[in-house]
Amino acid sequence: MQFQRRNQWINIKALFLAALLFCLFTSSSSALKIGETCSSDSSCDAGLRCETCALNGNTRPRCTRIQPVAPTSKVNGLPFNKYSWLTTHNSFALSGSKSQTGSTIVTPTNQEDNVTSQLNNGVRGLMLDMYDFENDIWLCHSFQGKCYDFTAFQPAVDVLKEIESFLASNPTEIVTIFIEDYVTSTQGLTKVFNSSGLNKYWFPVSQMPKNGGDWPTVDDMVKNNQRLVVFTSKSSKEASEGIAYQWSYVVENQYGDGGMAVGSCPNRAESSPMNTSSISLVLENYFPDNPNITEACSDNSASLTTMMTTCYEAAGKRWPNFIAVDFYQRSDGGGAPVAVDEANGHLTCGCDNIAYCRANATVGTCDVPKLAPPPPAALSSDSPGSTGGSSQTPESSSSLLESRPVPFQFLVPAILIVAQLLRS
Ligand SMILES: *[C@@H]1O[C@H](CO)[C@@H](O)[C@H](O)[C@H]1NC(C)=O
Ligand SMILES: *[C@@H]1O[C@H](CO)[C@@H](O)[C@H](O)[C@H]1NC(C)=O
Ligand SMILES: *[C@@H]1O[C@H](CO)[C@@H](O)[C@H](O)[C@H]1NC(C)=O
Ligand SMILES: *[C@@H]1O[C@H](CO)[C@@H](O)[C@H](O)[C@H]1NC(C)=O
Ligand SMILES: *[C@@H]1O[C@H](CO)[C@@H](O)[C@H](O)[C@H]1NC(C)=O
Repeated sequence: MQFQRRNQWINIKALFLAALLFCLFTSSSSALKIGETCSSDSSCDAGLRCETCALNGNTRPRCTRIQPVAPTSKVNGLPFNKYSWLTTHNSFALSGSKSQTGSTIVTPTNQEDNVTSQLNNGVRGLMLDMYDFENDIWLCHSFQGKCYDFTAFQPAVDVLKEIESFLASNPTEIVTIFIEDYVTSTQGLTKVFNSSGLNKYWFPVSQMPKNGGDWPTVDDMVKNNQRLVVFTSKSSKEASEGIAYQWSYVVENQYGDGGMAVGSCPNRAESSPMNTSSISLVLENYFPDNPNITEACSDNSASLTTMMTTCYEAAGKRWPNFIAVDFYQRSDGGGAPVAVDEANGHLTCGCDNIAYCRANATVGTCDVPKLAPPPPAALSSDSPGSTGGSSQTPESSSSLLESRPVPFQFLVPAILIVAQLLRS
């Protein structure tokens, strides 16, 4: 009898303890960490999205990174060309948007969130197609070389103003714009940059290295408030408007399907060969001819980083300064932000990922986290073969850094064990 009563008392204690643990757990997990199973974007920590990558068999919705580590956060003050910057291809072509002409857009789209949101997520390179349209400059896609109502997104000045307000409220940030330039009106680009207020941040062509030398340091660019780097695809604009002709300063690999063939990284037609050492900046394009939101998670993950290594070799052992993708938020566990982190690790501290760099340490001293088994990629009901192992590296490396895995399923057995211990 005595024994029985004692046992019941312990049962109550165990229940109480379990309830307490549960409360602790639920309160600490209101925002989920990288890799944890989620139900919606808002259930994840800031800077994460709730993603699957069904194309790779990764069907467990998990909190996934959409932001790179700030390139200058570990080693500051290097030349501009010693960092890698996340870049969006057709930054203005947003899914679900209507043309500001009122027309329905009949042209593919490449991104999901607006330029302000991209900048807030750490995007620092923007690819913008500019056309003369409606007596103004518009962001547009062409149909047979011309901008129409159904391919025109919005007046360029509106997006340039978004960039202006980002630079105004983030006084140490630097943004690069790549203009695919169809503007023929006299001083058309200068006028639109003037009216956006962006001209005050202009980085002058005269300070861009012409013979493969280093760029000014990011510190100097910030100090001089020359925090906007602009390139045009039209060579004449350098002389007529002081806008840098892109192919004098940047080498770039083939875009579209031609740039996605495994094992080769040819330059695009307009660019000098990738290994041209007199050109200081390297841009890696990695997106298909036809943007595809379903495939983007896969493209932006393992295959992007594989191509980054291929392009590193092709570019004369240079890591990309700009990594340009479609649907930059889509990934199989980390994607383009992880590729940027890896490039910045190599560029700024000689480590495989910027997360391994020690602040102010000598090059090559890295804090590499110990390996642990990655969490499952597929929902538990799925076949074990569907985890897509090769594509897990980005997530496992980033989740390890967080080192706060609190999977709910581990807690239930823990409570049961505690209860069992108290019983005996
Ligand atoms: C950009 O998107 C955010 C969030 O979706 C929204 O709050 C903001 O108003 C948008 N800004 C512009 C300029 O469209
Ligand atoms: C642009 O602004 C600059 C200085 O703010 C001015 O000198 C120049 O004339 C303007 N150009 C045009 C085409 O508006
Ligand atoms: C540059 O790459 C080309 C192939 O694209 C190769 O033929 C050439 O030898 C390379 N040049 C240097 C200096 O490595
Ligand atoms: C996108 O990719 C998916 C999966 O490969 C494919 O089924 C779909 O047809 C593609 N969509 C477009 C518009 O190409
Ligand atoms: C790194 O160096 C900078 C400038 O010398 C200094 O402000 C910063 O505190 C240092 N950081 C660490 C972690 O030592």
